[in-house]
Amino acid sequence: MVELIDEIRAVADRYPERKSAVIPALRLAQEHYGYLTSEAFREVAAALGTTPAYCRGIASFYDMFELEPAGAHTIEICTNASCALVGAAQVLEAFERELGITAGETTPDGRVTLRSAECLGGCGRGTVVAIDHRYREPVRPEDVPAIVEELRRG
Ligand code: FES
Repeated sequence: MVELIDEIRAVADRYPERKSAVIPALRLAQEHYGYLTSEAFREVAAALGTTPAYCRGIASFYDMFELEPAGAHTIEICTNASCALVGAAQVLEAFERELGITAGETTPDGRVTLRSAECLGGCGRGTVVAIDHRYREPVRPEDVPAIVEELRRG
């Protein structure tokens, strides 16, 4: 079995400077650990010849990195301008109601993490919702119960 540090080093070999591979390296670490633990930052830093603080700083900037344990599924609702104009707030409220949590929380059974998100790049087809990083568009409040039921069934 290939060790995480070896995978990261193999990716870093494709870049002129090892530090430039920080984004793909963090992705590999997140896949390995489920989220970015302190150990993950130490491993990435060691493989890239940088510091855990540098890696944490990069990871904390991007929504795609998990700094805490997340649910088995993630639901992200774009609430930026274009989606807001077509009812993103109502879609977010529908998810909150259906899941019994508020944005930023994970259901007590650990199955779903709910988040609001910045523009997901599908502005003409709002409201855009990313479920496990796959887009559904457009989503209306009345679509939400079926989406949640689908996730509960696995
Ligand atoms: S504003 Fe929602 S996808 Fe761009």
